[in-house]
Amino acid sequence: MATRVVVGTQWGDEGKGKYIDMLAGDSDMVVRFSGGNNAGHTIVADGVKYALHLIPSGILHKGKTCIIGNGVVVDPAVLLKEMKGLNEKGVSTDNLLISDRAHVIMPYHKELDELQEKFRGSNSIGTTKRGIGPAYSDKTERSGIRVCDLIDEEVFAQKVRANLEVKNLIIEKVYGGEKFDAEQIISEYSAYAKELKKHVVDTNDIVFDAIEAGKNILFEGAQATFLDLDFGTYPYVTSSNPVAGGVCTGAGVGPVSINEVYGVLKAYTSRVGAGPFPTEQDNEIGDTIRELGWEYGTTTGRPRRCGWLDAVMIRYAARVNGLTALAINHVDTIGKLDKIKLCVAYKKDGAVIKHFPSSLKELAKCEPVYEDFDGWNVDISNVKTYDGLPENAKKYLKRIEELTGVKVKFIGVGKDREQTITV
Ligand code: GDP
Ligand code: IMO
Ligand code: MG
Repeated sequence: MATRVVVGTQWGDEGKGKYIDMLAGDSDMVVRFSGGNNAGHTIVADGVKYALHLIPSGILHKGKTCIIGNGVVVDPAVLLKEMKGLNEKGVSTDNLLISDRAHVIMPYHKELDELQEKFRGSNSIGTTKRGIGPAYSDKTERSGIRVCDLIDEEVFAQKVRANLEVKNLIIEKVYGGEKFDAEQIISEYSAYAKELKKHVVDTNDIVFDAIEAGKNILFEGAQATFLDLDFGTYPYVTSSNPVAGGVCTGAGVGPVSINEVYGVLKAYTSRVGAGPFPTEQDNEIGDTIRELGWEYGTTTGRPRRCGWLDAVMIRYAARVNGLTALAINHVDTIGKLDKIKLCVAYKKDGAVIKHFPSSLKELAKCEPVYEDFDGWNVDISNVKTYDGLPENAKKYLKRIEELTGVKVKFIGVGKDREQTITV
């Protein structure tokens, strides 16, 4: 049996979905443990493109149990739309289970996300405006509404009415927004509840039983290490814990039950939204990477900020997540450049450091120390083995292993699930 976790090591969009889809093939169960529909996981399977936001990327494989864990925040309307979209493409969602402990994203969460971002002005975080932060805030503030409440008409109505007494005041008086009508929300959401009810269970029991039975379980990370509420570039982060530790609290699994942790990265770095980015190339190089790698958001369509790979970040991610292997994507993309830079350390106040600073003020003082590599200007999108890769690509990958202390297990040479080399 194996329990494997797939996490992002940068600022998201590393290509986690592609690996989840690939690894789901020999898994019995795929479990999302954090985030919500701020995630956008692209999968290209047999030439068909799928963009998943909430449903685990294992859904494309028949017969796998796909779980939305308790650590996820669920927008029921988005979930139903995504389920219907898959059904229309002939993909069954019968095996989808939703934790009754997961929290529900409410219309006022989405409105507050918008209003708070507007209010932050030039300090805005660049959120996806999907209500993620306000929903997690309510969870920790203990006024959240859980999926078990959603499917209980009486409890749900009571909670919506009580919450709106406060939320409407905040929306109107603090932000000058328009207040919500409780009865309208209750009626809208009761229709969602009816449709979703048959998928709702205490998923912790199911995950526990699967571990006991020695099944293969895959935990699907969303977002990434540097968007983590604790370990990311706070406050330019999301509101959950996407690191591997999030599996314990977001799916109800003890730490010793985790066997493997795969850290996904790109052969360069991208970021969508605001916040620091030491190796950013806000210039022609960044533009070239964006176009070569088609770096536009899966969720919001925003152009992604692009820059060189930062090994300081990946080393930090290796430690925080306990990575057992690396999965590196877009090796095809970066090789198209004549010259490639890899950040191996930072220079700060005249000293060379290898640690990612917590303080954004200190981080702003960091200048990347680069090593130079030559590109491998040949098409590698059909290469199937490590030995088949150009020498320059191998040199680049070897250096990443040395700097991070973690072995590369998977190499992405294209979008399709077939375009992956297993080392
Ligand atoms: P996720 O959020 O981590 O699942 O990643 P996204 O799906 O948001 O973004 C990754 C993008 O890179 C998608 O458009 C993928 O189709 C694409 N992609 C993933 N791996 C590779 C690769 O190895 N090469 C190329 N060219 N594209 C890739
Ligand atoms: P996947 O799973 C990239 C970013 C947003 C913003 C910050 C906070 O596809 O890798 P939020 O809406 O979560 O409050 O926004 O986090 N962000 C992501 N960036 N990929 C993601 O998910 C992201 N999820 C959130 O752009 O900067
Ligand atoms: Mg994404």
